[in-house]
Amino acid sequence: MEAYIRSHGAEPAFPTNLSRNVEAAHFTPPPEDEELLVAGDVLKVDVGAHIHGAIADTAVTVEVGGGGRHANLLRAVNDALEAAIAQVRAGVAVDELSLAIEGAIHARGLKPVGNLSGHSIRPYLLHAGKSIPNVSGVSTDVLEEGEVVAIEPFATNGVGAIENGPFGHIVRFRRDPGPSDPVVARMYERFRTLPFTARWVEPADRPALAKVRKQLQTYPVFVEAGGGWVSQAEHTVLVTADGAEVLTRSTG
Ligand code: CO
Repeated sequence: MEAYIRSHGAEPAFPTNLSRNVEAAHFTPPPEDEELLVAGDVLKVDVGAHIHGAIADTAVTVEVGGGGRHANLLRAVNDALEAAIAQVRAGVAVDELSLAIEGAIHARGLKPVGNLSGHSIRPYLLHAGKSIPNVSGVSTDVLEEGEVVAIEPFATNGVGAIENGPFGHIVRFRRDPGPSDPVVARMYERFRTLPFTARWVEPADRPALAKVRKQLQTYPVFVEAGGGWVSQAEHTVLVTADGAEVLTRSTG
């Protein structure tokens, strides 16, 4: 996935998230990972690409092996995403999107994950300040023409909330670490404030990464609080005067 993005003239905007089952997000494989997928796993593939900081963020959920045991869970987030995109236009209340997401997921007998949200995007900033909640009654924001937002419903058969689990091997510079350590300075030059992972760092440079750990934001895996299984769907859209341009829809 990351190699595909690089071979098409972009850079990954964050490490590919490969979160399974009760994991909602923020797991990426560490270096030399030997974990295997198992038939029936519900795998969320959340990927981002950027060109000079212009980011596209998208996700799908698949059932490993395609057995269809989790079809309702997978459909719930696809329904929710399409329902939310249908609401997008300049001047719309974000709560209209949240209502659409919540309604579509409830219609499948499942719960939206209330403490995960979509997000506005700006150059080199994946979470640029405005949230698109997956439950209604939270946001008082309005979408503006020209804004780029990632809409990402999560559905679960659990309690509808995530909590922090173990470290998911994703980190990010909070700010420019300065020139004192040239290895670290080069890393910042490459990743700026976008999330990255040790797999992307030369093995010889990984100790330098460990040394600046305190200056890095580290991401825990998000795990469903009731042990429910979780699905996710996501598109990045440009808000236009009378609708949405879906920037991450496949054209091929
Ligand atoms: Co996102």
